[in-house]
Amino acid sequence: MILITGAAGKTGRAVIQALLARGQAVRALVHKPEQVRPVKELGVQEVVAGDLCDPAAVGQAARGSRAIYHICPNMHPDEAAIGQAVIAAARSAEVQHLVYHSVLHPQVEAMPHHWLKMRVEEQLFESGLSYTILQPAAYMQNVLAQWNSIIQDGIYPVPYGVETRLGMVDLDDVAEAAATVLTEAGHTGATYELAGAEALSQIEVAAVLADCLGRPVRVETIGIDRWKQRAPASGLGIYQIKTLVKMFRYYEQHDFWGNPHVLGWLLDRPPTPFAAFVKRVKCSQN
Ligand SMILES: NC(=O)c1ccc[n+]([C@@H]2O[C@H](COP(=O)([O-])OP(=O)(O)OC[C@H]3O[C@@H](n4cnc5c(N)ncnc54)[C@H](OP(=O)(O)O)[C@@H]3O)[C@@H](O)[C@H]2O)c1
Repeated sequence: MILITGAAGKTGRAVIQALLARGQAVRALVHKPEQVRPVKELGVQEVVAGDLCDPAAVGQAARGSRAIYHICPNMHPDEAAIGQAVIAAARSAEVQHLVYHSVLHPQVEAMPHHWLKMRVEEQLFESGLSYTILQPAAYMQNVLAQWNSIIQDGIYPVPYGVETRLGMVDLDDVAEAAATVLTEAGHTGATYELAGAEALSQIEVAAVLADCLGRPVRVETIGIDRWKQRAPASGLGIYQIKTLVKMFRYYEQHDFWGNPHVLGWLLDRPPTPFAAFVKRVKCSQN
């Protein structure tokens, strides 16, 4: 049995599907009771609802698991404490393998959610557990948040400069790599950067979108102030908004990309190019 935390989110669902495709038994820890049914409908054997901030709930979910895939909720201010609870639960349940879903470049202090992930990585080194750390780049799937604007208005809005380069990775590739490290031997003690093969500027992202969708798409920078005004409507809290603003500024100043070779090695094929991702999304909507 493999326990997946943060299981109802987009990362959790992708990892669940990759594990089920390999015939693995999965226990999903979701946040709210209403998330149990939709996750169960993916084909998951066991789904439990609980708060990751409650160490007792985490401990209970870990019992009887062979491995844990830990996905912390995105930009959670208590990520270090949650990591500590997951490590304690893994120890007391004598879990054989703990895989942590971190992020590319957790060393960056200017991005608080990255910095907190590095603290969790540090705890793992000192835990005495068999662990693996995955460090994905920004997902291609993040573009889907702007899909309506792209399709309806031909505008791809971004909260950073149009020259900003991102080495986006397909979440499905990340999930496949996660399933590999969870089900094949030889990955304990490893830290793997999972980056896409292209470091595309936002102008290039819009050009790929236009080419694959067969319609004009232009990128448009929306100022941070305008983005902040709109953000609460999408359910983001104050901490998350502040953290995202820091991330956007970092992206704009330094770009955010990595080397794709490790991901290619884990997948045994090249990582999915952005154009292939867009074509897949287009096909799934026809
Ligand atoms: N997005 C990216 O490009 C990217 C790239 C690299 C790494 N990551 C990392 O991947 C992780 C997951 O990101 P994501 O975008 O998949 O997240 P997500 O879709 O926001 O999913 C997070 C899940 O955690 C649940 N959750 C929130 N608070 C909880 C709590 N206290 N106890 C239990 N569950 C709770 C959420 O439930 P509710 O809906 O009820 O809140 C949601 O189902 C994050 O750590 C992020 O930093 C993301």
